[in-house]
Amino acid sequence: MSSTFYISTPIYYPNGEPHLGHTYTTLCADTIARYHRMAGDETFFLTGTDEHGVKMVKTAAAAGIEPRALADKNVAVFELLWKELGITHDDFIRTSSDRHKLAVQNIVARLQANDDIYLGAYEGWYDEGQEEFVTETEAKAREFKSAITGRPLTRYSEPTYFFRLTKYAPKVLAYIEQNPSFIQPESRRNEVISKLKQGVDDLSISRATLKWGIPLPHDPAHVVYVWIDALSNYITALGYSAADDSRFRKFWPGDVHLIGKEILWFHTVYWPAMLMGLGLPLPKQVFAHGWWTAEGKKMSKTLGNFIDIERLRKVIATYGLDALRFYLLRAAPFGSDLDWNDADFVKSYNELANVLGNCQNRLLKMIGNYRGGVLPAPGSALDDHDRQVLDACEQFPGKLADAYRRLALQECAMLPLELARVVNGYIDSTKPFSLAKDPAAAGRLDTILHGCAQAVYRAFVGILPILPEKAAAALAQLNVDIRGRTLGEVLAAGLPIGHKFGEGQALFPRINPPAKA
Ligand code: MSP
Repeated sequence: MSSTFYISTPIYYPNGEPHLGHTYTTLCADTIARYHRMAGDETFFLTGTDEHGVKMVKTAAAAGIEPRALADKNVAVFELLWKELGITHDDFIRTSSDRHKLAVQNIVARLQANDDIYLGAYEGWYDEGQEEFVTETEAKAREFKSAITGRPLTRYSEPTYFFRLTKYAPKVLAYIEQNPSFIQPESRRNEVISKLKQGVDDLSISRATLKWGIPLPHDPAHVVYVWIDALSNYITALGYSAADDSRFRKFWPGDVHLIGKEILWFHTVYWPAMLMGLGLPLPKQVFAHGWWTAEGKKMSKTLGNFIDIERLRKVIATYGLDALRFYLLRAAPFGSDLDWNDADFVKSYNELANVLGNCQNRLLKMIGNYRGGVLPAPGSALDDHDRQVLDACEQFPGKLADAYRRLALQECAMLPLELARVVNGYIDSTKPFSLAKDPAAAGRLDTILHGCAQAVYRAFVGILPILPEKAAAALAQLNVDIRGRTLGEVLAAGLPIGHKFGEGQALFPRINPPAKA
């Protein structure tokens, strides 16, 4: 049975160029989307840009240009980078597009018709970097500075429309408590629950002093608060409230909103409350990953440890795109904070070469030299070594599926390497190169080559979502074409006896000198 799968990234502020943080979320989402496509799910992967709000206005003003021009300029850089990184998103939503604006106005109008919006006045603190209202108590606790950027909070006092968040907060809390998988990882879920239990205020959802935004349908002197505008993207991109809403009907509720931990509250409190107001089902999961530091410190331009687009391009030019993907995914358990470290990057590249590259190389050499490149049937009774490899092959699909189901991306990266390690250990302990010299051991050698081939094949199939280029190159060398079959089918079937292999070529060439990543 085929099912649907919808995954999104946050939509990024195009007030600057993308960097490691944006790249990480997008690559993670891309890996998950690739896996689901391979698994046979009809998959929709959304990313885009969040172009309104005061931060965009201020950055544009400082550069002496219009917000729209700033957005256009940086959106082009985001789109180019995603192309260079081979990101397989199915759509790119810009909040300045007409399709988005119209749908946001429909959303606000529906909330208004539902009596969820009323006119009042906002008096309080705002974090312009985060585009976030901050309560008096929080502001005081943070010494009137942003918890994220450290910059001073701004004081606002203006008429505004409020959304009745207080009406929905108890329902949101009950939902979170009853649906343990809605917020992941678990620690993030606990954070939201305890903050919700402290109580909330109604949410200011319009700005009368800002011009750069989507006008409120019933009072165009106000623009919609940028987070209400932005969160809506997850359904406006699907055509919610548009003449053709077939994508919305097919893909909503979404499966995963992948986000960074600093925007959890918006996604797990404001967004569910809005959806409840609209009478729509909630996304199945919001997964908050950790934050990157670099060489143990917060990334900063002045410290010189900022992993910006130029740095990313340099790493890709030296090590290849797949080496970057692998490094980012395996750097820490998914959900934990991560630290970019040049020495670790080189180590993780060498791991690819020594584990995956090595077993592919050994397999193709042995099968080429000893069996004319043709896969033999096992030719002897199985011993413990053989069984260990066959068991590893058998357990691999289930373990991989389970890791992807839990979004344990580090495990998703390591499982195929573990399988390859089993092969390398198998070769070391059974010594096929010695057996090849003894004609009486031909059957035994067949068994070993057969086991190695089945495991190497599965390891590369399994790592395709993470190493799309390198694994495809490896499979081409193995002379297999898996198109038209699901991942489950491919992994269960293995290679047929008599399969003819191609020629091996180094997948992860040595990089000399081992430059810093
Ligand atoms: N526009 C909002 C999101 C709206 S979603 C409806 C926004 N944009 S952002 O440009 O600031 O991007 C934030 C996202 O970028 C984070 O949630 C995270 O996915 C990623 N990262 C930015 N810096 C990061 C790190 N240093 N480390 C990891 N990811 C971080 O917030």
